Order: sequence, then C-alpha cells, then structure tokens
Amino acid sequence: MKFFLDTANLAQIREANDLGILDGVTTNPSLMAKEGIKGQDNVMKHYKTICEIVKGDVSAEVISTDFEGMIREGENLAALDENIVVKIPMIKDGIKAIKHLTSMGIKTNCTLVFSAGQALLAAKAGATYVSPFIGRLDDISQDGMVLIAEIAQIYAVQGFQTQILAASIRNPLHIIKSAQMGAQVATCGLDTILQLLKHPLTDSGLEKFLADHAKANA
Ligand code: G3P
Repeated sequence: MKFFLDTANLAQIREANDLGILDGVTTNPSLMAKEGIKGQDNVMKHYKTICEIVKGDVSAEVISTDFEGMIREGENLAALDENIVVKIPMIKDGIKAIKHLTSMGIKTNCTLVFSAGQALLAAKAGATYVSPFIGRLDDISQDGMVLIAEIAQIYAVQGFQTQILAASIRNPLHIIKSAQMGAQVATCGLDTILQLLKHPLTDSGLEKFLADHAKANA
C-alpha cells in the first residue's frame, strides 16, 4: 500500500519524506487555502515545491467545473512536473475531462467520490486514481469502509486498472481496513500515519530492555 500525505503543508511533507515512507501527496483547494496559498502563480509555485520534495505522485485539483476549463487547467498543471496528477471532481464534465486527459497521457484522480456507481464511472473514464471519501461518509452515519470494499470488488471483477485512493481518512483503523480491503493508496495527515506506530507494549517492552541493559552494564 502506498502512503500519500493529504496536505499542502511543506513542513509535514518534508517530515514524512524524511521518514522514508512517503509515496506521494494529495491536495485540494481547502488544504491550499489552509496554508494561505493565494493567487494562481503562488499556487503553481507551491505545487512545484511539493514535487521537488517528494518523488511520487502529487494530486493538484482543478477549480473549473466546465470541460474546457478543466482541460485548460489540467494541461497547465500537468506541464509543471511529470509527477502531477490532475484532480477532477466527480461531475458530468469531470468524467469527460478525465477521459480526455487520460487520452493525452495525463494522470488523473477523480475526487469527491461517495458511491460505487461514481467509482465505476471514474474507472470507465480511465482515471488513474479514484478517491472515495471515507471519513465524510462516516460523518453522515454511512460506513465508509463498505464503499472501499464495494469498489475493490467491482474493480477486481471487472479488471479495471484504476487505483483506489482511500481519502478523508480520520484514524489509523481507516488505514488498516483500507489496506485489508485492497485500496492501493491511503491519504491522510502525518499525525494519523504516526498513530500506526503506537502500542503500549512496544513502549513498556523497550523500557524494560533498556533498563535490563543498564543494570547488566552498571
Ligand atoms: O483531499 C480529500 C480528502 O482527503 C478530504 O478529507 O478530512 O476534508 O474530509 P476531509
């Protein structure tokens, strides 16, 4: 399973990259705004900087909602770096744009996916990644993990190559269950990845090993 960081925060991206377990980054307009990145030039520069830090796919989202606008933005974003993946919303023109960008050899990530039917359409259009939003489904009392399982089953049975990028991940169990169900990628904050490290028996075990070593060598 690949680990992507769902952030536009450069410090977090550097820290995860230094750990050696970072495979890519996903961003969205909300995450860019959170970092105070404003204006097209600055947004483009920021994507370029992210691509310089991490050697893996970097999803950059379009803000147009019409076909021509998405294509124009997608081409500009893709020209920034070979690792840019153009993130396109799951809307009618978005499907058309994914098909078009895919035919041009540009990688795409179909975002804001909340149903198996939407994921089927994204794969039909040739999306490189599909992003089901697990946490936001949980938020409305719908089990996000069920969606990951449904998509994984459909893609396996039908032989689609689109990779499942589990998004809107809120806790380490989301990562573990996504891995069990066959999602190829999990994207989340660094804090959620670091929570995977934690186990009280690891901490107490290490404490005892070090204490025994200190005693024996006193
Ligand atoms: O980047 C898309 C997705 O991961 C958003 O997550 O936490 O805003 O639901 P969240």
